[in-house]
Amino acid sequence: MIIARSVPELRAASSGPVSFVPTMGALHAGHASLIRLAAADGVCTVVSDFVNPLQFGKGEDFENYPRDLAADAELAEQAGATVLFAPSVTEVYPPDFSTTIDPGPLAHELCGLHRPGHFAGVATVVVRLFGLVQPHRAIFGSKDYQQLTILRRVNQDLGLGIEIVGAPTIRDEDGLALSSRNMYLSPAERIRARAIPRALQRAAEIYAAGERDAVLLAEVSHSVLDGLTLEYLELRCSDLTNYEPDRPAVLLVAGRVGNTRLIDNIVLDPASPTQAIAQFATKEFA
Ligand code: PAF
Repeated sequence: MIIARSVPELRAASSGPVSFVPTMGALHAGHASLIRLAAADGVCTVVSDFVNPLQFGKGEDFENYPRDLAADAELAEQAGATVLFAPSVTEVYPPDFSTTIDPGPLAHELCGLHRPGHFAGVATVVVRLFGLVQPHRAIFGSKDYQQLTILRRVNQDLGLGIEIVGAPTIRDEDGLALSSRNMYLSPAERIRARAIPRALQRAAEIYAAGERDAVLLAEVSHSVLDGLTLEYLELRCSDLTNYEPDRPAVLLVAGRVGNTRLIDNIVLDPASPTQAIAQFATKEFA
């Protein structure tokens, strides 16, 4: 695996069709699963490792975001990456850079309500990275469900022609979705954070038993979420339009445990109503 720090190095190291995994580093087993998926068909697999200042608000964790290039390089290489692209801020945003992507109304809902400007920052860096990496396919984790939905929209609206793949959320043994921010949690907070997968599991269980009422599905989740400061718990159609009982849906949750902001979601599909519970089948929530 080659570590490229500049655009010329990136271009020299990559060839043919490119599968792309954009990340902000602090790589964990969830990222490894994205990289393995990208590398599975044997094409050049580029992983970007860039903490994007544009997607952090004032008082958020940009300065403290975990950075460890050596550990990231080891994990990326083992998972099958061909190139790790780890540019500086000025490589991505030269001093005269002035374009911003506004992804539209969805960027101001759900997480966007609590993190103004966040999705414009995400869309801007991802489109910029697409331009630099020129992938035919890009893989994103489904834990960041709203991000994935917005990036599909951006790709379609701008006619970028990239295949956008949403990869399954990887969960720890206690059910918590893997996230680079989990490392901020103290042992006591970690125990409180388990309420999130437990809440989603409760909704998945009553959904599998036939419940389709939005209020009841949200209520059963809400009742176990007392260990965190809830930002939102919302049931929507899987395209993030308003919930309709007969269509595939997604239950999304965001909240803070101490100072750590966590998000998660579960897709509920009337065509395979028991599928969602399977995600939690082997997990220990005690
Ligand atoms: O999901 C992330 O890690 C980031 O939002 C992304 C897509 C790499 C853009 O910085």
